Amino acid sequence: MRIEDLAAVHQIDCLSFSLPWPANAFRYELLENPNSRLWVAEIERDDGTGVVVGAIVVWLVVDEAHIATLAVHPDYRRHGIATQLLRTALRECARLGMRTATLEVRASNLAAQALYHKFGFEVVGRRRGYYQDNQEDALIMTLSDLQAAACA
Ligand SMILES: CC(C)(COP(=O)(O)OP(=O)(O)OC[C@H]1O[C@@H](n2cnc3c(N)ncnc32)[C@H](O)[C@@H]1OP(=O)(O)O)[C@@H](O)C(=O)NCCC(=O)NCCS
Repeated sequence: MRIEDLAAVHQIDCLSFSLPWPANAFRYELLENPNSRLWVAEIERDDGTGVVVGAIVVWLVVDEAHIATLAVHPDYRRHGIATQLLRTALRECARLGMRTATLEVRASNLAAQALYHKFGFEVVGRRRGYYQDNQEDALIMTLSDLQAAACA
């Protein structure tokens, strides 16, 4: 992710979540949080210019990669873009020495859970009433052996 991607990333976030991050949050993560790693997915237009269609942010917490957010523009879903973003992020986090990966996901978000299951994440816990807009529970999903998964 680069500074010039921030507007598109914020737009995708707003289109993807009922509780999007504040407008300046991605800028903070990109420029000021030394423990953040951020990627975008870009597709190429016919004229050769790129369009940002997805983004992922990961926090490096000691030896754990915490997936802070992942979203793909609604017009570009089901084309493997989240898969590519997650694979890239997990491989890089493994290279940086992270041993596990973890995340929270809405209990009703079966699409995202299916994606994470494909990567070997397992549900290890539940935070009751975690989401402020509807008091929905969060499932905690963990990939216990990131090094092995990243090599697969
Ligand atoms: C979840 C999300 C990131 C998936 O992005 P995507 O680019 O469409 O995902 P992919 O095309 O890489 O899909 C990979 C797998 O995820 C699962 N999946 C993705 N979307 C799905 C859906 N709508 N229903 C069921 N399974 C789905 C499938 O197993 C899929 O594999 P398949 O296409 O071979 O069946 C996207 O739907 C999104 O941005 N949702 C809103 C934000 C969000 O929920 N982020 C996750 C927060 S934890």
